[in-house]
Amino acid sequence: MLIDTYGRVATDLRVSLTDRCNLRCTYCMPEEGLQWLAKPDLLTDDEIVRLIGIAVTDLGVTEVRFTGGEPLLRPGLVGIVERCAALAPRPKMSLTTNGIGLKRTATALKAAGLDRVNVSLDTLRPDVFKTLTRRDRHHDVIDGMAAARDAGLTPVKVNAVLMPGLNDDEAPDLLAWAVENDYEMRFIEQMPLDAQHGWKRDGMITAGDILESLRTRFTLTAEGEDERGSAPAERWVVDGGPHRVGVIASVTRPFCRACDRTRLTADGQVRTCLFAREESDLRGTLRSGAPDEEIARLWKLAMWGKKAGSGLDDPSFLQPDRPMSAIGG
Ligand code: GTP
Ligand code: 5AD
Ligand code: SF4
Repeated sequence: MLIDTYGRVATDLRVSLTDRCNLRCTYCMPEEGLQWLAKPDLLTDDEIVRLIGIAVTDLGVTEVRFTGGEPLLRPGLVGIVERCAALAPRPKMSLTTNGIGLKRTATALKAAGLDRVNVSLDTLRPDVFKTLTRRDRHHDVIDGMAAARDAGLTPVKVNAVLMPGLNDDEAPDLLAWAVENDYEMRFIEQMPLDAQHGWKRDGMITAGDILESLRTRFTLTAEGEDERGSAPAERWVVDGGPHRVGVIASVTRPFCRACDRTRLTADGQVRTCLFAREESDLRGTLRSGAPDEEIARLWKLAMWGKKAGSGLDDPSFLQPDRPMSAIGG
């Protein structure tokens, strides 16, 4: 079991499969991209499957989420999913993607055993999409989401980060569109995880702002706490149901006390938290020929050192060295 000194148990593993991405969202990466990890530093498909196997079989992990960068850029993704589906006990598996590659891969991913996807989409306006992501791929994302839904990778959840002056007027339109298309809309407070360190708390669109804006068009009823569990999203029932909308308020209403996550970076480091300042090198241990028990021991030790929370509210808060794309969302 992956337990920490605050009694939290990590059952949800987020695995970053690559730090690369085919978009350049302003809240994440600079125009020129980043210094990508070198191929030999990335875990191989076999190494990833072995580590997930240890997490699932020996450490009590029940849910695996593949992230990036953009995980659909990883050539071996379908094979990785297929092999993880054969693990005992079989973990629940999901993917967080920008959606561009889904049209091509949704059916194969479903057949391989993937359960569901979350897709990032911040705007319904192609021109705003182009400004925000620096790429003209809006229609590919929209098509990808439909392909995922039609392949049964459901519920398809949509993640939107709202930014002042860019898309902060779009919350009701995004929700109406998601309801119409049978997607679950979630709005995310922007976090200080951009490579450019440009985040400012002052200008941020908060959960409060988002709810106020949604309530101009919808009746929202809070969902019970028991239904939330350890999920980052607080959810509201939209106009009496059945659709729901989520708000992920990592900054103004942090949920660290219920955190059930452990993370693996694309180069094989365990991170206990998005905002952790330390990492534990599983790749080195694995490549030194260590047996599963030794790797499991190191992973447990890493989680034992998990901090109480993100530290975002501490005056001494320091943004992590790795940006979001290298941590895995
Ligand atoms: P489900 O609700 O299970 O589908 O997943 P999720 O919302 O946890 O995953 P997703 O990858 O879609 O992430 C949505 C947003 O939540 C992103 O902005 C993530 O960075 C953020 N997020 C995910 N995990 C954590 C976490 O442990 N802590 C914080 N603060 N934010 C997180
Ligand atoms: N703050 C909040 N969410 C972010 N994401 C990427 N960067 C940030 C940030 N700085 C979102 C993406 C994606 C998810 C994994 O995290 O939009 O949906
Ligand atoms: Fe967990 Fe860290 Fe996120 Fe808090 S900020 S919920 S501790 S990963």
